[in-house]
Amino acid sequence: MKILVTGGCGYIGSHTVVELLDENYEVVIVDNLCNSKKDVVDKIKTITGKDVKFYEEDVCDKKALQKIFKENKIDAVIHFAGLKAVGESVAEPLRYYRNNLDSTLTLLEIMAEHKCYKIVFSSSATVYGAPKSLPIKEDFPLHTTNPYGSTKLMIEQILKDLYIADSNWSIAILRYFNPIGAHASGLIGENPNGIPNNLMPYIIKVATKELPYLNVFGNNYDTKDGTGVRDYIHVVDLAKGHLKAIDKVIKDKGVDCYNLGTGKGYSVLEIVKTFEKVNNIKIDYKITEARPGDIAACYADPTYAKDKLNWEATLDIKKMCEDSYNYAKKQK
Ligand code: NAD
Ligand code: UFG
Repeated sequence: MKILVTGGCGYIGSHTVVELLDENYEVVIVDNLCNSKKDVVDKIKTITGKDVKFYEEDVCDKKALQKIFKENKIDAVIHFAGLKAVGESVAEPLRYYRNNLDSTLTLLEIMAEHKCYKIVFSSSATVYGAPKSLPIKEDFPLHTTNPYGSTKLMIEQILKDLYIADSNWSIAILRYFNPIGAHASGLIGENPNGIPNNLMPYIIKVATKELPYLNVFGNNYDTKDGTGVRDYIHVVDLAKGHLKAIDKVIKDKGVDCYNLGTGKGYSVLEIVKTFEKVNNIKIDYKITEARPGDIAACYADPTYAKDKLNWEATLDIKKMCEDSYNYAKKQK
């Protein structure tokens, strides 16, 4: 079975490629390296001892995709390629709409041309906006607050319309909660350029003394300790969810959405304390203003994915903090 992984050099994509290779899938990666590095391909080979075919191409490039589909008999696609920074999407909406929508439309057109109708798509819990209650179920109302989130919601709609038009399609839409952690080897992980926007990459920079302290965005939320609560999920658990989604799209036609989260919410201060404890390191922090647009709490009801995909997260928050730091130390 041959799987095309778009964005396979990125954070979640690279971990998913490792799991696919471990399960003896053949993998073809297409990535334009706009937010990743080519050496990830070698690291994947080192971890798995297996070969992976890599195309450095843009998924918006129809000719390049044609070539990939002609040279490889692709059975199914996992589509990670996309831009993902919320703040950047507010500043540069056209770049976000162009990249995320164009890449998806081009990919879907070429897939249909080659009669490849099985796709797993990376959506996000951001499509729930500010949820009416917790935990979040898949049938909650959808609402976005920034262009990044809107691209995800629009693509979900495109995929649903596609199935209505042609019932040959098998589509799994995965709504990720907050992925953190890294592969236990410490060879692959998340390494954003510049000052990180997300919590764990920021904590890491404080741990490695590249930044002096963490800004905790607000402590007046209606949560256990006043700081924001999220459903952090180990990236390896998340990657394994994609293999279950592949099983599903290979077996059944249709289109469906699944929350990939643990179902547990942790506050910013709980993450800081756990990180400090498991890694035996002090993380200095200051309480600052709440970040505009942030919600108080967000965590999944992961029951549907358990029932339909036979998947659930198994790695705990300690392992997430340990593996995140292990990867960071190996980058030094
Ligand atoms: P990432 O930036 O590490 O990986 C995305 C990869 O796609 C990168 O390697 C980038 O070079 C590539 N890419 C982007 N546009 C491309 C294009 N036009 N052609 C070819 N390659 C392209 O991001 P990630 O964290 O691994 O996220 C993967 C997917 O999951 C994204 O679609 C993202 O929106 C989604 N997602 C991520 C999170 C998160 O917190 N990390 C949460 C929810 C959803
Ligand atoms: N936080 C801080 N300080 C920081 C960074 C974050 O206190 O320096 C807090 C935030 O206020 C929030 C929590 O840590 O309470 C998590 O923030 P992240 O930025 O790590 O994650 P978000 O939940 O805000 O957003 C992430 C992705 C989005 C995605 C969303 C839902 O960045 O793309 O999860 O999946 F849409």
